[in-house]
Amino acid sequence: MVNVAIDGVIQKAEQNELLVDLINRTGTPLPHVCYHPQLGPVQTCDTCMVEVGGKLVRACATKVADGMAISTRSTKTKAAQVEAFDRILCNHMLYCTVCDNNNGNCTVHNTTKLLAIEHQTIPFRPKPYEVDSTNPFYRYDPDQCILCGRCVEACQNVEVNETLSINWEDPNPRVLWDGGSTIGESSCVSCGHCVTVCPCNALMEKTMLRHAGFFTGLRKSTLNGMIDIVKGIEPETGYGAILQVSEAEEAMREHRIRKTKTVCTYCGVGCSFDVWTKDRHILKIVPEYGPANGISTCVKGKFGWGHINSEDRLTTPLIREAGKFRAATWDEALNLVARRLSEMKAKSGPDSLAFISSSKCTNEESYLMQKLARAVIGTNNIDNCSRYCQSPATAGLFRTVGYGGDSGSIPDMEKADLVLIIGSNTAESHPVIATRVKSSHKLNGQKLIVSDLRENEMARRADLFLHPKPGTDLVWLSAISRYLLDNGLAHMKFLDQWVNGLEAYRKSLEPFTLDFASRITSLPEETLRKVAHTIAEAENMCILWAMGVTQHSQGSDTSTAISNLLLITGNYMRPGTGAYPLRGHNNVQGASDHGAMPNMLPGYQSVDDAEVRKRFEAGWKVKLPSTKGLDNHQMVEAIHQGKLKAMYLFGEEMSLVDSNANYVGDAFAKLDFFVVQDIFFSNTCRYADVVLPGAPSLEKEGTFTSTERRIQRLYEVLEPLEGCRPDWKIVLDIANRLGANWHYQHPSEVMDEIASLTPMFAGVNYGRLEGYKSLQWPVAADGTDQPLLYTKSFAFPDGKARLFPVSVIPASDQPDANFDLHLNNGRLLEHFHEGNLTYRTGGIREKVPDTFVEVSPELAEERGIQSGTWVQLVSRYGQVRVRALVTDRVQGRELYMPMNSVESPVNRLTSSHTDPVTNTPAFKETSVHLNVLPEVGEGPLPRVNSRFGHPTPQQGVEVERKWKRPDYATPGNGLVQLQTK
Ligand code: SF4
Ligand code: SF4
Ligand code: SF4
Ligand code: FES
Repeated sequence: MVNVAIDGVIQKAEQNELLVDLINRTGTPLPHVCYHPQLGPVQTCDTCMVEVGGKLVRACATKVADGMAISTRSTKTKAAQVEAFDRILCNHMLYCTVCDNNNGNCTVHNTTKLLAIEHQTIPFRPKPYEVDSTNPFYRYDPDQCILCGRCVEACQNVEVNETLSINWEDPNPRVLWDGGSTIGESSCVSCGHCVTVCPCNALMEKTMLRHAGFFTGLRKSTLNGMIDIVKGIEPETGYGAILQVSEAEEAMREHRIRKTKTVCTYCGVGCSFDVWTKDRHILKIVPEYGPANGISTCVKGKFGWGHINSEDRLTTPLIREAGKFRAATWDEALNLVARRLSEMKAKSGPDSLAFISSSKCTNEESYLMQKLARAVIGTNNIDNCSRYCQSPATAGLFRTVGYGGDSGSIPDMEKADLVLIIGSNTAESHPVIATRVKSSHKLNGQKLIVSDLRENEMARRADLFLHPKPGTDLVWLSAISRYLLDNGLAHMKFLDQWVNGLEAYRKSLEPFTLDFASRITSLPEETLRKVAHTIAEAENMCILWAMGVTQHSQGSDTSTAISNLLLITGNYMRPGTGAYPLRGHNNVQGASDHGAMPNMLPGYQSVDDAEVRKRFEAGWKVKLPSTKGLDNHQMVEAIHQGKLKAMYLFGEEMSLVDSNANYVGDAFAKLDFFVVQDIFFSNTCRYADVVLPGAPSLEKEGTFTSTERRIQRLYEVLEPLEGCRPDWKIVLDIANRLGANWHYQHPSEVMDEIASLTPMFAGVNYGRLEGYKSLQWPVAADGTDQPLLYTKSFAFPDGKARLFPVSVIPASDQPDANFDLHLNNGRLLEHFHEGNLTYRTGGIREKVPDTFVEVSPELAEERGIQSGTWVQLVSRYGQVRVRALVTDRVQGRELYMPMNSVESPVNRLTSSHTDPVTNTPAFKETSVHLNVLPEVGEGPLPRVNSRFGHPTPQQGVEVERKWKRPDYATPGNGLVQLQTK
């Protein structure tokens, strides 16, 4: 800490912190238009000037030093600030009263007021450009753009999509997309970073326009007339009086615009943000304080909320009668569910019933669902869809380090010197995590190695891209481990101190020579050596992986091999290191954490541990079943075998997302009684006997747990749509009709019960999670959480990690003469999973209307395929008809199909083969035959898809180019460029 004087008052400051941060912290008013704490100094506006030692400097670009004397209000300072702001205002027409951005947080408005500007010295000068409304989600108005460059900085260096720039050399600079494209046809991925940080109304969400203000919905001609009147009186009244009117209008908005915090409903990154609503209309999503994301979102979190008010929401229970569904009352439907479940339990025993909880629903809802199964029905037949993706990663980590979760947090991924990504299309499946890696790679010299079948965005950015043969990651990972051990490159000190099982592990690596690995994986030995040395040289390494690893018949073993590699290189127990299996759904981590698993009670406490059962039996006042139940894969088999007769499933589109979908659908058709709870009439509902309308995340309270084990609260943004009920209340109603006598009034009471029974969550309560507060489990009773796991020991009784030997088994579904192509599958940025939610947002549908199959240019030429050619894909299990997209993202005889389709789901092609450890289907091991059909349609991706754009990477906003303009002069006298970027 150092001492500085601000306007004569001594203040404590941190050496090297930015002056602007210090001045803001002390509450001293200081104009600053382009500075945003999450962007750092942009230095385009010059409004933050202060005097230091008699010289004018930008407060946003000057670091604190001991003994500094800072004046924020000397005559020279004020003159420079006003002059700088005058130059800003000539780019912006002030019409606050009729502006949708007049919500108290407009930087231009607030700075006008702060500087008491009454008149513009430099008159407003319109720019010779049209408003660009070609993006479905936001529009750019050049006439309102003050050229602060925040958007450029956010796009270039936070999101790192590198779409935006400013043509500083042009007589009329403006923000450019891809150097001059329309927004719609640019590389813009609609993540919304630029809109979020824009300090005025130049970039605005279309959902705000004409909706936010009391007068903004007026006809354009009327609005223009009002703007003219305001401008007409300005010379006489000055801005002060005009701003007062707009502030009165702004105050009126306070009463009708609600701002409610929620957590994203899509992927496992766990972005949180405020949702602004006017009645049921969603005005905008405002990310700012989220511990995982700050200002960041992807298109889904920022704009993908069309499902909330979609006209086809289910709003009444449905009962199947004589093969048709009819509307029913809640009492009728719930009574029927309770009666049928009781009858079947009485007739065929509790284990003839099964329960599927939802990884999209809250922790409290998963907890209640498993409690219903265990404590009310008496079966452990409960599971969730983590089995389809993440169970193998969890198993690999349980084997080696003790906890089945990410070993650190997102900042660790940012800090690492080396990030190794295996089988994860991070930029599309976990976009906000990808931004942190892209940014560290671009700006901080982080190294990036990517192993994948497709040359996805992260692969294109990587220092080294590995394309091994499908399903061979275990081999090259183990060969690298052996090479490091053989060549004295392993971290022996760490191994000695912290790891058991080295000798057995070393022996298990005998087959994994570089030569063997090269033959199996097709990666050259030289490349493997390079990877090994890069890993050995990195001080800190994180490994990120996802479904490209886990959805194989060796998913658990490959995850284990990853953790083994981290252990032998000592990459645990420190910031910037560790294992990061990226969780797919928003609450897939939480669903398993809270006991929606056939072998585990909440907190990964085994059902066959008598002590654990005793604790839950005392808490729940029932006798609990002690044998492991069926997982969701086994449930399907048991239905086919006639052993399982009834199922209650909520928030899962299991008939499309489970592997071998035809087989799963056939099983559902055999159930005697099937209850499906969802917000839409999903494909799975088609097999139901009773359909119950649940509520989406915005219509309920609860908590989600993200990939970094972060528990966060979501608040009720909107009341449940009439006829729908929050899922926890439905489970409660069913349980009570079955005699449970549960009395929860609010999810917080459920969480209190969880904490009382589960050591891992001992200190979790809603008070500690209020607002944007969060906790990363395990949470001790005093509320201490663990952003970084294993700081003192590993989670085994002796505190030591365990190397776990693995060996190779061949992939389950290999190409042959009849099925000659390998089919890979995964997510797309724009859609989530099968697309039940995201297809209900028009703008997303416009960008990606359908699924497709990616075909390599080589194969396309060989088969006479072009983008838009219809093809039939036939596997050993089913067939689908889709359009081809020819792209060099895939190579040779490897195809890729995104999962976003209800009509042609890729899982009609996938098999029932599984990873033997977890029963996770080997979704990624599918061989197909391709028939070229005669029809050729439009390419499956429209021209307005970002993949056709041409980004313009540069180092942020490049303000130096502005400073070089002949008409630029630093405002005030004697400005010194103390710090430039
Ligand atoms: S990608 Fe598009 S939405 Fe995202 S910051 Fe860049 S220009 Fe804005
Ligand atoms: S569009 Fe960009 S440059 Fe223009 S005001 Fe908004 S953030 Fe600043
Ligand atoms: S989908 Fe994932 S990355 Fe996108 S906003 Fe939601 S949580 Fe964040
Ligand atoms: S805040 Fe814009 S230059 Fe400092």
